[in-house]
Amino acid sequence: EKGGYPHFMLKEIMEQPEALENCLRGRLDLPHNTVKLGGLIDVMDRVQAADRIIICACGTSWHAGLVGEYLIEEFARIPVEVEYASEFRYRNPVLRANDVVIAISQSGETADTLAAVREAKRQGVLTLGICNVVGSTIARETDAGVYLHVGPEIGVASTKAFTAQVTVLTLLALKLAEGRTLSEAEMAQALRALAEIPEKVRQVLALDEEIRRIAHVYRYASNFLYLGRGYNFPVALEGALKLKEISYIHAEGYPAAEMKHGPIALIDRFMPVVFIAMKDRTYDKVVSNIEEVVARQGSVIAITDEGNGELDALCEYVIRIPPAPDFLTPLLTVVPLQLLAYHIAVMRGCNVDQPRNLAKSVTVE
Ligand code: M6R
Repeated sequence: EKGGYPHFMLKEIMEQPEALENCLRGRLDLPHNTVKLGGLIDVMDRVQAADRIIICACGTSWHAGLVGEYLIEEFARIPVEVEYASEFRYRNPVLRANDVVIAISQSGETADTLAAVREAKRQGVLTLGICNVVGSTIARETDAGVYLHVGPEIGVASTKAFTAQVTVLTLLALKLAEGRTLSEAEMAQALRALAEIPEKVRQVLALDEEIRRIAHVYRYASNFLYLGRGYNFPVALEGALKLKEISYIHAEGYPAAEMKHGPIALIDRFMPVVFIAMKDRTYDKVVSNIEEVVARQGSVIAITDEGNGELDALCEYVIRIPPAPDFLTPLLTVVPLQLLAYHIAVMRGCNVDQPRNLAKSVTVE
């Protein structure tokens, strides 16, 4: 059942290339230069006309929602807000007729997210679901939606669901941009780059042994900081969540630029800092942040593009992954962070598939 792997989590990390291929199948139509989202056909006009999109989710799904905010605002130019479902639900949110609420939930059973959907429906707003479990409550109660199609996720730590959620949000953002904000040529380029992602994830997974060695070095750390910017700020949050939930190491994720407003006070030689430093529009700024950490004896692990040797002198470890357009990098940069958390947790003797105090789906509010 674990496909020869010692844990479901590792199996689910390793099967991401095929999972993403399944998620994209029939949706990415390269010959016709278009995206097809069957479940949204009847509501697409209303989504395109939305004044505002509000994404509600919890945990890892909320992190995927944050990537979705960047994607939809960049490509579709529709304002997006991302809400913790629990907060949205209890603060009497202001919704207007042309708002659209998107609930993201792997299980489709998370009580807070379901309550947010019900609140949105009570206020008469169009609700969409992005779920993995077919026939789940959120999938049934939303007006329309898109399934992830990645198969069951058993490990409590969400991995392939995250990359699939981001993939679906990418498809949605591109669909919303079709014939509006992207030219045919730009669309073709974006779709081709998206089609290459599963193979690039495969290349990142080949770094497993290298990441295991890095995990071995840091396995006794008691704190970790994760920093990234732009599309990779949510990935920093996700990397930190993965580590804390399965290894019980305290970890925090921040937007890299926010470091100087507080967290930099934590840096000393006992603080490992994981930087996502892809060569995108934020790269130079991130490198300055790395320099600031190194100047305070922090120990830096950086994730950057293949062929980039510029960080070697600064960082303790540099993990090099295939480059991609910036909006697709979260699908690649999160993978080493999943593996790092996994290996550290195993080395610390933790129960990675069923960490203490956690359940796969949280059905209480
Ligand atoms: O099933 P859902 O996507 O609604 O679950 C939301 C969170 O409970 C979930 O992502 C949780 O944070 C995971 N354990 C993260 O790995």
